[in-house]
Amino acid sequence: MIVAIRGATTAENTKDGITAAAKELLQEIFRANGLENDRVISILFTATADLDKAYPAVAARELGLTQAALTCLREMHVEGSLPRCLRVQVTAQADIAQKDVRHIYLKEARTLRPDLSTGIKIAIDGPSASGKSTIAKAVAARLGFVHIDTGAMYRTVALHVRESGKNWDDEGDVLTAMENIDIDIAYAPDGQRIFLAGEDVTRAVRTAEMGVGASAVAVYAGVRQKLVELQRRLSNSRNAVMDGRDIGTVVLADAPVKIFLTASLEARTRRRCNELAAMGLDYDFDSIAAQIQKRDFDDSSRASSPLKQAEDAVVVDTSDMDIPEVVAAILQIIKEKGVPYV
Ligand code: DC
Repeated sequence: MIVAIRGATTAENTKDGITAAAKELLQEIFRANGLENDRVISILFTATADLDKAYPAVAARELGLTQAALTCLREMHVEGSLPRCLRVQVTAQADIAQKDVRHIYLKEARTLRPDLSTGIKIAIDGPSASGKSTIAKAVAARLGFVHIDTGAMYRTVALHVRESGKNWDDEGDVLTAMENIDIDIAYAPDGQRIFLAGEDVTRAVRTAEMGVGASAVAVYAGVRQKLVELQRRLSNSRNAVMDGRDIGTVVLADAPVKIFLTASLEARTRRRCNELAAMGLDYDFDSIAAQIQKRDFDDSSRASSPLKQAEDAVVVDTSDMDIPEVVAAILQIIKEKGVPYV
């Protein structure tokens, strides 16, 4: 039978980067579809204009594809399309029918075919200011997964309680407000967007005050139950990196990869202070440290789903690491856990 198989990946624009990415993609296509070199008829490669340091067909030759017809073309440009993208179309004789072919999309190119998503879940938990959101967002972008930020959902509940004129320290008040809450989540190319009664509150919930409110409403089982349901539903049909406090222990207890991200109180305080300084705001190191410590205590000591490391989580202490180092370490853990196509 003759089949055509599609695939795509992203690459660094260097000779080695393009060759390595093309090799990885071809090897994965061959492995997933049981192809052998001598049964490949032709391969069409396309690259976006920003990949101009090597012909990807060289990778195929290096893999021993000496008889297949190979052509490299430039991909047409469409505004807003994925940069540094390498695409292939392999035509081969195979033992499978076209309907059983597995098309392979790696790295950021996964976003090109969300319909092929298999619902791979990566859980990242950790204390306040450990960098979870930043890291989860970067890891998700690198894998072409969505980043589900669960803290933003608790923050949105806090905002709703406040807007309803209620008190977030009163369980009855919060549960009453929860009865008519209208939260909607969407995934845009620049990340998660969260809507409260139709209004985009993604930025509005990022204040320190909503952080305090989020920690307060997160204590109530009635709130958690509703949000956990929403979080599971969002991750069901997508490949997702989800960050929070109870992701590895409760929300995605069956996730194949669980990371517990932590850092010393001093490192976390320093980062928070740098953020405030970058926003031109005044701060006092000791009082920021005290706030973080209180949040740690509140999040870890509450009765309902407290912050705690899942037994099968891998701990990453980021005290002495910068963002690219943490992202690389997590990608390595994901790879070692055998998540397909990472
Ligand atoms: O990560 P963050 O700062 O946006 O979270 C705000 C608060 O929400 C945090 O103090 C605890 C709570 N939270 C939670 O209890 N469970 C989650 N999965 C996410 C956040």
